[in-house]
Amino acid sequence: MEQRRGGGDYVELEVIEDGTTRGSSTHATSGQEESTSQVLRRRRFHWPSPAFLLLAFVLAMASFLFGTALRTSDGGIKRTKVYRGSDGGSIALPETYVRPLVIGHRGSCGMLPEHTLEGYKLAMKQHADCIECDVILTKDGVPICRHDLTLEQTTDVASRPEFDHKRTTRDVEGETTTGWFAVDFTLDELKQLRALQRLDFRDPNYDGLFQVATLQEQIDLVKENSGDGGDVDVLSGHDDEAASWHLKLLNYFMKFWGYSSEDKDKGTDQGHHHHTPKTCLYPELKSTTWHNSLGMWGGKRSEDIILDVLEKNGYKTKDDNIYLQSFETLDLEYVHKKSSLKLIQLIGAPDVVQWDTKRPYEELMSEKGISEIAKYAFAVSPSKNDICEKNTTTGYIDASSVAKGRSWVEMIHSKGLQVHPWVLRDEDRYLAWNYGQDAYNEYTMFIRDVGVDGFFTDFPATASNYIRLFELDLAYQSSHKEKLP
Ligand SMILES: *[C@@H]1O[C@H](CO)[C@@H](O)[C@H](O)[C@H]1NC(C)=O
Repeated sequence: MEQRRGGGDYVELEVIEDGTTRGSSTHATSGQEESTSQVLRRRRFHWPSPAFLLLAFVLAMASFLFGTALRTSDGGIKRTKVYRGSDGGSIALPETYVRPLVIGHRGSCGMLPEHTLEGYKLAMKQHADCIECDVILTKDGVPICRHDLTLEQTTDVASRPEFDHKRTTRDVEGETTTGWFAVDFTLDELKQLRALQRLDFRDPNYDGLFQVATLQEQIDLVKENSGDGGDVDVLSGHDDEAASWHLKLLNYFMKFWGYSSEDKDKGTDQGHHHHTPKTCLYPELKSTTWHNSLGMWGGKRSEDIILDVLEKNGYKTKDDNIYLQSFETLDLEYVHKKSSLKLIQLIGAPDVVQWDTKRPYEELMSEKGISEIAKYAFAVSPSKNDICEKNTTTGYIDASSVAKGRSWVEMIHSKGLQVHPWVLRDEDRYLAWNYGQDAYNEYTMFIRDVGVDGFFTDFPATASNYIRLFELDLAYQSSHKEKLP
């Protein structure tokens, strides 16, 4: 890979300052030179020559696609970047620009099995801003990261005869469900299981290698890695040669874009960030009402068990680098009474009934519903499909659907809430036809045309690579007041 380097040499300066997570107003510092005390880190990029040509072409196309000024946002962490070329010139992003928050959905679950420490590490390496943990509880009351209440879709539990006796049937939110429930396993038992890739059209090469992660382990991980992710060793503790080889191949493409540890020219961390992990947590309270109905854990509410872990680790207020989500409302309101943590109201499909309040999600989506959410939440998180509906006959998202999405997002912004939709995925089966099977086009639509503030993605690498191109183009346009040739 070394020999393919050469050509363009580019230094990216990143100026980071806190947004309203610490105060009521944000003032960008774009345009300041690298002497600023707020420059927290630098990265050196080496662009391979052939790639440089390709990039120039992509940028030209992108400049055609990208519009003008971006909407400002008043939340989250503001990052303003200056890109400096090898000729000494620099281009800066507009002061109003706020980078959308990249939320690594279940880690980097498009590439590695979901909710594993290895998947979280890969997401960090791929510059996800946040990593997600869907929190459920074990029999012994330990918060672990799993999406489903049952284990068989994402672990090898079904092929472990020693756990046959734990297969059981329970009532889950109105449905009779049979399987291996995490609440019937102690953490020690769960640690004997190995994670599997959930989807058969995704890479199965890491099946059987990784353990189920706990919330505490995820927290430890972000605390241990306060850098920009480049130094994270995804497979530390593993000696599986095949997995190492596969991951090297994945890394090749990250390296291609300059995101590799040896490219890192670590800047000095002189800001107030050194005590805060750079990667944010984005845990979800899963099926709170169901958990609490079990009468386990000495009658302690699951919200309290989870909050205890968060508080013990210093996650207590809105200023902490964490977002707590739920599809339910009563649990969020409960947490809101006890802490000022940033809360995310997840929103299901309009006709689906919210389990705890028995309201169809449609009610939460209305202006009245959003106003109510604004009393306790920081953001709402609807499905991308409910922001911009796809025509079910044609498989296209048309202009009126985009306009509808944008005006809904604007209404939500007017209530002081951010919008973080779920879930952007690379595979064509998740893309509308009008994207031409290119996930970048979906990013363009949601970031530029609809104006979301962040998003969940199964592929943080795609998101990071996209945002870099988006920013380079925007910075160029902003600095030169003209489009690329
Ligand atoms: C979907 O597309 C079809 C075919 O172009 C059109 O007749 C129909 O009105 C569209 N549906 C909606 C809801 O826009």
